[in-house]
Parts: sequence; C-alpha cells; structure tokens
Amino acid sequence: MAANDATTKTAQGATDLHVAFIMDGNGRWATSRGWPRLVGHRKGAERVRELVRACPELGIGHITVYAFSTENWKRSTEEVIGLMSIFARYIRREADELSSAGVRLRFIGDRSRLDPKLQQLMCAIERRTAGNRLLQFNVAINYGGRDELARAARQLAADVQAGLLTLEDCDQAALEARLDTAGSPDPDLVIRTSGETRTSNFLPWQAAYSEYEFTPTLWPDFTPEHLAEILTRFGLRERRFGAVLTG
Ligand code: IPE
Ligand code: IPE
Ligand code: MG
Repeated sequence: MAANDATTKTAQGATDLHVAFIMDGNGRWATSRGWPRLVGHRKGAERVRELVRACPELGIGHITVYAFSTENWKRSTEEVIGLMSIFARYIRREADELSSAGVRLRFIGDRSRLDPKLQQLMCAIERRTAGNRLLQFNVAINYGGRDELARAARQLAADVQAGLLTLEDCDQAALEARLDTAGSPDPDLVIRTSGETRTSNFLPWQAAYSEYEFTPTLWPDFTPEHLAEILTRFGLRERRFGAVLTG
C-alpha cells in the first residue's frame, strides 16, 4: 500500500479511534448566564477531564483537543492570561492521575511564544508520560494549521540546505514527518461543538480524510454521553478514501 494512502494511517477497528475536538462555545455558555467568559473556560477544562477518562471505554486510543489557536491572541489580555493559567493549572492538577492512568500527553503548536514556565510544565509532563500507551492525549496550544505547515516547510528547506535531504526527497512523507503531529495517526473523526460549521485552522493536513460532526451543544455542556451517541452514528458511516468499495 502506498505510504500516503489515507487508509494506512487510519485507526483499524473501533478499538483505537482518534477523535479530535474543536472545543467551542465556552464564552457563550458563560455570558448567557451573566458570568465572565473565563468561567466558561474553567467549566470547559472540567469537561476535558471527564472526556479523557471516558476515552478508553469508548474505544478511543487518541484524542486531540484544540485549546488555543494562533488566532486566539486577538482576544483580551485578561482572557488570554486567564486561559494560560487554566492550562498551567490543568497540567499541575492532572499530572499524577494522567501518568498513573496510562495517558501519554503531547502538545502540538508553536510553544515558543508561551510563557517559559508553562513551557517547562508542558515538557515535564510530556517526559513523565512518554512511556504510557493506553491513551494518547494531544493538546493544541498556540496551534494553527497554516503555521504548522509553514514551520514544517521551513524545516524541510533547512534540511535540504544542510544537505540532509535532496529536493526529490521532499514528498508528503517528508513534510508529514516535520509536522507537530509526526508519528500520530490522523483523526478519524473531528467534532466541533457550539453550532459553528468551520474548522478554524485546525489540522488541515491531518484531517484531510476525517469525518466531521458539528453539534449545537456548547462545549461546557458536552459530556461523554454526547460523545458516545456521536460515535454510534460514526460507526455507521462508510469511509471510502476515494475508492469504490465492493461487497
Ligand atoms: C472555545 O470557546 C475556547 C477557545 C477558543 C479558547 P470560545 O471562547 O471560542 O467560546 P465562544 O465561541 O466565544 O462561545
Ligand atoms: C477555535 O475556536 C479555536 C479553539 C477551539 C481553540 P474559535 O472560537 O477561536 O474559532 P472562530 O473564531 O469562531 O473561528
Ligand atoms: Mg468560539
């Protein structure tokens, strides 16, 4: 099978699914109750915690969550700082449980713009959980698909310039190996909450053949039961990857 055939990188069977989430609607959830937006982000982080726990029994082996985009810096300083402190607190609070529960944490996105203390926490938990195999949990912070592709292209150019690669070596596999997600399977399913039907710069390369599900539920209301219901419907979909299926 060709190396770039989408089927080669798809979870086989229902026991190792990769589900990615565009966690949207925290702000609306809070403001509709007359609360500050950060209250919605805190509630959203609790939902992430519950979903991560539920993944293994739902047959999910990889989960990716979009926590902060390269475009989210446009928000107020208060909201950005608040979000960053929620990320730091989440890592500190969850570190013990994630590592003993067999979860491997990995961050994607450009971390160079993040606070050095947050970067240290991220590196430390990645190292601590590197040997875990039950669930791979990817968190996208300062992630943008276009930014990721531009960084990978720059790295490819640097490797050619350094004589490590020839121009002919610059194929899909070479670019993919330089993405933040290198080595991870592509998402089988991308779920966006809050009723918006756009991808907002999330995993444009990796989700080229993913199934999409858009639900009106706001992220702070999204529970493992909602996920289980979506997965049941996902199981009925026929994924063709461009081929004509027989039988
Ligand atoms: C998603 O919720 C979380 C982040 C983008 C960080 P929002 O904050 O975008 O919530 P809405 O879309 O304003 O309701
Ligand atoms: C996408 O949500 C980014 C994250 C979920 C982190 P946004 O709320 O930032 O997306 P837009 O602005 O509605 O496209
Ligand atoms: Mg939003």
